[in-house]
Amino acid sequence: MKLKHVAFIMDGNGRWATAHGMPRAEGYKHGLEALIRVAKRMDARGLEAVSVYAFSTENNARPEDEKDAIFKQIKKFNRTYFGNLRVIYMGDIDALDEDVIDSIEDVERRTKKNNGAVLNIALNYGAQADIVHAAKLAYDKGSFDEATFEDALSTSGLPKLDMIVRTGGELRLSNFMLYEAAYAELMFMDKLWPDMTEEDADAVIAEFERRVRKFGK
Ligand code: FPP
Repeated sequence: MKLKHVAFIMDGNGRWATAHGMPRAEGYKHGLEALIRVAKRMDARGLEAVSVYAFSTENNARPEDEKDAIFKQIKKFNRTYFGNLRVIYMGDIDALDEDVIDSIEDVERRTKKNNGAVLNIALNYGAQADIVHAAKLAYDKGSFDEATFEDALSTSGLPKLDMIVRTGGELRLSNFMLYEAAYAELMFMDKLWPDMTEEDADAVIAEFERRVRKFGK
């Protein structure tokens, strides 16, 4: 089966920086470069969507300087990305600073008509909150079938999630795309996110193609 939609938990940026004798903040700069490398390769290989976990609602508890470093990269990307991916964001965006929101609107508008893969960036996102939010919308509609519910999730309109890849060696989903993960393949890599190359992106595709998917049948 062909991989259409892959999601990445981009873990290991801080550890990568420490291992290279740099402050943790530098890890996110290199993490952004890895993201662009991997997403571009996925697009070139014909995928329709790449979702990435850039900042969870729980990450709000991190030290201010580290949060600043992450948002600095996000704003930089939003202001300077002129490639062919169609960039969209999911998560509680309204709660973020004005300049972040402006930069998001900017990149979403600028890339809206692109014909490349969708790059879906989860920011200030938590899957449980997204599920509760969708349940509220379904309740308001008085309709509880799966189609209505799925329409109300942040991922509505994207192809079904095929695979979640987590780098950095940890073996958990950390509140990322929990509803969508139902039948997704899981892949865990020891590699730290900033070390991800085009060849690693190819290896992810190859691994997916090796998996036998039965969907419970
Ligand atoms: C986890 O690594 C990763 C994050 C909290 C954020 C990742 C964000 C980026 C790579 C910037 C992406 C930019 C855009 C535009 C989406 P960690 O630092 O917690 O790693 P550690 O386990 O080594 O501490």
